[in-house]
Amino acid sequence: MRPTQLASRALRAFRRLGPKGFFGLLITNLRLVASGRYREHSHAYDRAFDQRHGVDTAGTVNLEEMDVPEELRGRAVRYEAVDPDFFAHVLGRASIGDRSRYLFIDLGSGKGRALLLAAQSGFRRVVGVELDPHLDAAARRNIGVFRWEHRQTEFEQVNGDATAYPFPATPTVLFLNNPFDELLIGKVLDNVESVHRGSATDFVLLYLHSNHERMMRLRPGWSEVDSGTFRSRRKFYAIFRWEPRSDGQGATAGR
Ligand SMILES: C[S@@+](CC[C@H](N)C(=O)[O-])C[C@H]1O[C@@H](n2cnc3c(N)ncnc32)[C@H](O)[C@@H]1O
Repeated sequence: MRPTQLASRALRAFRRLGPKGFFGLLITNLRLVASGRYREHSHAYDRAFDQRHGVDTAGTVNLEEMDVPEELRGRAVRYEAVDPDFFAHVLGRASIGDRSRYLFIDLGSGKGRALLLAAQSGFRRVVGVELDPHLDAAARRNIGVFRWEHRQTEFEQVNGDATAYPFPATPTVLFLNNPFDELLIGKVLDNVESVHRGSATDFVLLYLHSNHERMMRLRPGWSEVDSGTFRSRRKFYAIFRWEPRSDGQGATAGR
């Protein structure tokens, strides 16, 4: 990056974050540079997607800055938008036929980048659930801007706890980009299973930065479709499909 670009980026960040937020960002970046990990993390501040679509999804929001109940703060992961190339890679590895027949749900949707990417990728019904009201408001603004390009997509944005989201019995792609801890992931899976138990409706989980994938592997009824890394060891993922085998039936409808 040229010095003039760096200066204007810094100025923009200062205007957006104010002195305190800017100082925090500076310290974070200096730490990453010093540890040699800046390149791995820099996608979080990459504005290429935002500039292309006139939206604001880049950057990070730490848990202390969020307006969320204390009991959920301790279980949450800070906001950081998904890398669009990582998103495309993982979606491409899931064997999903006609995406327009699937509901795409992002639990912990942040500023909504994954929702916009899902609309671009052919999903026609897209739902985001975000706990923090400021991030939720940002997602609504981004969807509003983006809607002009993707009028055929139906967006729904919910402000609340993801574990309260009532899954409909419809072919679904659930997207989890490391939103919260193992306990809450387990609750979400309980909710999925209670709706999809005994049904032949396809349900696919795309789990990025899959810290709790071991728990998924031990959970009856879920088959691993794929897992691996993308470009760096830090971007790891796992894909699972709800395929209860107790009755010998696989999930096939909707594919
Ligand atoms: C790593 S970010 C992922 C953002 C987005 N999914 C993306 O990929 O661009 C995790 C998000 O999960 C949200 N989150 C954490 N706990 C939550 C909960 N219980 N319910 C809903 N959202 C939650 C955080 O506020 C944060 O925005």
